[in-house]
Amino acid sequence: MTCANGPVRPLRADDAAAVLTAFTTDAAEMSRQGTVRDAAEASAYVEHMTSGENYAWAITADSDEAVGMVAFSVDEENRNAWFFYWLDRRYRGRGLTSRAARAVADWALSTGGLHRLELGHRANNPASGGVARAAGFVQEGVEREKFLVNGERVDVYTYGRLASD
Ligand SMILES: CC(C)(COP(=O)(O)OP(=O)(O)OC[C@H]1O[C@@H](n2cnc3c(N)ncnc32)[C@H](O)[C@@H]1OP(=O)(O)O)[C@@H](O)C(=O)NCCC(=O)NCCS
Repeated sequence: MTCANGPVRPLRADDAAAVLTAFTTDAAEMSRQGTVRDAAEASAYVEHMTSGENYAWAITADSDEAVGMVAFSVDEENRNAWFFYWLDRRYRGRGLTSRAARAVADWALSTGGLHRLELGHRANNPASGGVARAAGFVQEGVEREKFLVNGERVDVYTYGRLASD
């Protein structure tokens, strides 16, 4: 698995320590990305993201070190995938995830052979929408009051990008 033209490289087992740091230094935002509280859970997370229907890239910044992740989960029968991403809080706001997501989405819909990518983000997470649009996704809908977060119902915006877009 390769992916050119972006600040990304395939996620690998020795990225577990960086994953643990990202999850434990922003528990509030990262809890919705999965459960990673210690080294064993970080290793299991990387293993899960790089096996089966999941394909994952590390986002890199100033070195080869992983500072985030862009990944997708393939629905083989329909040649679709669910797309998602996160970044270590120390590196946010530099456009890194936008560039990484664009590179991975471009790859998935060309070399990767997929036809459609889908994602969703909470209405109160505008940065995620910015990443989606930068990666070529268009908003397709609103799932009204989908999640219950801290006692409040939150809308989810759904996005898609087609190989033919
Ligand atoms: C969402 C997340 C990946 C964004 O990563 P990032 O690298 O900081 O994003 P970028 O720097 O590429 O910015 C993306 C866009 O969001 C905007 N943005 C960044 N922070 C913002 C904020 N707090 N409020 C509003 N907009 C914001 C940027 O200006 C940019 O918009 P633009 O393209 O119109 O200029 C990061 O905040 C994160 O990991 N959050 C926790 C996990 C998460 O929510 N993942 C997504 C789940 S759907």
